[in-house]
Amino acid sequence: MKKVFLNLLKQPITNSYLSNKKKSTLKSEFFYNLSIAFDTKNYLVSIKKPVNPKKQYTDKYAHRASQSKTMNLAFKKTANKLKIKYKPKLSLEIGSNDGVFIKNFHKKNIIAVEPCKNLARLTNKKGFSTYDKFWDIKLSRKIIKDKGKLGLIYSANTISHIPNLKETFKAISISLDKNGVFVFEDPYIGSVLKHNSYDQFYDEHVHLFSFIAISNIVKKQNLKIIDVEILKTHGGSIRFYVAKSDSKYKPTSSVKKIYKSEIKMGLNKLSAYKKFANRVKKSKQKLLELLKKLKKDNKKVISYGATYKSATIFNYCNIGPDLIEFVTDSTSNKQGKYTPGKHIPILPPVDMVKEKIDYAFLGAWNFEKEIKEKEKNFIKKGGKFITHVPTIKIV
Ligand code: TMP
Repeated sequence: MKKVFLNLLKQPITNSYLSNKKKSTLKSEFFYNLSIAFDTKNYLVSIKKPVNPKKQYTDKYAHRASQSKTMNLAFKKTANKLKIKYKPKLSLEIGSNDGVFIKNFHKKNIIAVEPCKNLARLTNKKGFSTYDKFWDIKLSRKIIKDKGKLGLIYSANTISHIPNLKETFKAISISLDKNGVFVFEDPYIGSVLKHNSYDQFYDEHVHLFSFIAISNIVKKQNLKIIDVEILKTHGGSIRFYVAKSDSKYKPTSSVKKIYKSEIKMGLNKLSAYKKFANRVKKSKQKLLELLKKLKKDNKKVISYGATYKSATIFNYCNIGPDLIEFVTDSTSNKQGKYTPGKHIPILPPVDMVKEKIDYAFLGAWNFEKEIKEKEKNFIKKGGKFITHVPTIKIV
């Protein structure tokens, strides 16, 4: 049974940056209710009523995974590790974005799946065989027919975006060869509870995974978790290694360890999520208090990184251009636009010292280290960052 424990109110589609503030544009902006539910049967945490993926993954999809140095490096390391460990003859990535992971493979040895046609065009142009379709059983059968079964399937920050997990894992089960491995990573609900990072909930994060939930789901498709890792990426992610139930792999000791830690955290109980929801309410109150005080003191406050995460915060907390003057982002196709829902202008990165900025809210708090390194001068001259993880503070 699905029990709602958190209501993050009316939210826009986070990827839909507005190109102008005309009345007609504002009128056609799409909103939905972001309520988060816990399934008491399989322990999965999901959006109660997800948005239709066809509305989200269009040919105007803005996010480019290769924008961050941190992520470029992380994907390179992962690709090399997986190639050495499993020596796959043929691999596939689900949700290949702009090719940040697949570029570490030989073009003949990897297949890309990416439903956003603007992104699929990018990797196709570079010579990677790219299917511009949603991952499902029909597509997996077509790929087997075209190319054969797979030794490795990889996916980062995509499986949690797919409403129908049953179909997703069935398609995985069909596609893997006997000892093929499916490796996927997504934000971890355990880290969200620990860091109070409720901004990990937005339209694209249909689910936030725990080990116990995925374990229940894959079992039903004749799959098993053979290994698991907790990662620092995106503010705390979980990486699963999944293989066929009758494959040669035995689960590692990490599998037992994470199971125990999740039971200890109460990830199998509604009460842990209810307590988290109370902390979220407090976080909202504190952030508004701080921003209102800074405004009263005539401080110049901006936000750093036009992230999906910050869209959740701004819409949930009702933070608009009156409290945050503008947002900066290094992604060219976000620049000159307005943030979804709250319509804060997005500018290219600015000289924060010259612009006399006093405070920058860390919209991309998961890249805190990279950003602080970049903005050394701002910090040296007395500039401050604001973060909400794990509690509202000035850093
Ligand atoms: P993400 O957290 O969803 O990956 O998005 C990070 C966003 O932050 C992305 O739009 C790029 C932007 N960004 C900057 O503008 N400057 C930076 O230094 C970093 C690391 C990210």
